[in-house]
Amino acid sequence: MREASRTRDVSRAATGRYSAGVLGTLLLTPTAVVRRAVGAVLPLPSPLRDRVVLVTGASSGIGAATARQVAARGATVLLVARREDRLTAVADEIRAAGGDASSYVCDLTDTAAIDGLVARVLDEHGRVDYLVNNAGRSIRRSLELSYDRFHDVERTMAVNYFGPVRLILALMPQMREQRFGHVVNVLTWGVQIKAPKFSAYIASKTALDVFSRIAGREAFGDNVTFSSVRISLVRTDMVVATEAYRRTPALTPDQAAAKVVRALEDRPLTVDTLAGSLAEVANLVAPRLSDAVMWAANAAFPDSRAARGLPPRREVGETGS
Ligand SMILES: NC(=O)c1ccc[n+]([C@@H]2O[C@H](COP(=O)([O-])OP(=O)(O)OC[C@H]3O[C@@H](n4cnc5c(N)ncnc54)[C@H](OP(=O)(O)O)[C@@H]3O)[C@@H](O)[C@H]2O)c1
Repeated sequence: MREASRTRDVSRAATGRYSAGVLGTLLLTPTAVVRRAVGAVLPLPSPLRDRVVLVTGASSGIGAATARQVAARGATVLLVARREDRLTAVADEIRAAGGDASSYVCDLTDTAAIDGLVARVLDEHGRVDYLVNNAGRSIRRSLELSYDRFHDVERTMAVNYFGPVRLILALMPQMREQRFGHVVNVLTWGVQIKAPKFSAYIASKTALDVFSRIAGREAFGDNVTFSSVRISLVRTDMVVATEAYRRTPALTPDQAAAKVVRALEDRPLTVDTLAGSLAEVANLVAPRLSDAVMWAANAAFPDSRAARGLPPRREVGETGS
């Protein structure tokens, strides 16, 4: 009896989520809805086919998985990151599977290197149709361990905000000129949740979120759009050092990449999680209650050994989602 009512509740919740998804999709991506409806009966190519897609942070994790999925849809994919051997391995794998990939070594904290990257890419490929700002750095460290670590804020902003903005500004003239372009930013559900210990990280992702929202309003008439993918925990190199995440459910890089690819194809304003959206509402309607809940959560999940300056038990690193 209890089992039956639980099943009914789950199915009601799923229906609710589905309806919200349909409504959100209809309001935000009408063209994509029509394309997917037609695609259900007729074999339609992906909108990414024959497009040029630049993916940053393509040497591992979500970026590498995104590059593989984008190439499998018939796009030319340009892979960007610092580790040349890893980039080459991903590009070789894509080409071996019949895809089209080129790799570019670039440190996205180096503005001159970004300008050089854009000049080279435009020279070699003529255009960039889609940009995925995925490269990133995460820091999970509480306020009390951060008093003498202003460099954490600077380093995080350099990769997560200044680098992507520099890339956007450098590619925008060409995208607006050709009257087509789409930028997908790989952000975090933390933008909505505002989770403790992530002040530097979430602030940098929020900065890119807001920059893109406003840039998207100005470029709207030129058919250049932006999506913010506010993703939940993903099992990648970035989160291995955080003990608190060892038993936490997490997406695989391929699952996360599927969300990024969907954002590339459908061009929605945001891709959110239910938990992130609920937290956003709670932060809006009951901000102090939200603070109290987050304060308790902060105490329940201590800093990682790496953040406390202790040697790791198994892995090395200092980052988390
Ligand atoms: N994992 C999660 O739970 C999670 C959740 C929400 C959002 N995200 C976001 O997802 C994105 C991808 O992270 P991931 O989880 O896939 O971790 P990852 O495997 O560690 O990937 C990070 C990527 O960023 C690149 N990168 C870092 N600094 C760079 C720099 N200065 N210049 C150029 N490239 C740089 C790295 O390449 P090189 O080291 O070769 O340069 C790597 O390819 C990040 O923006 C992250 O904030 C992750």
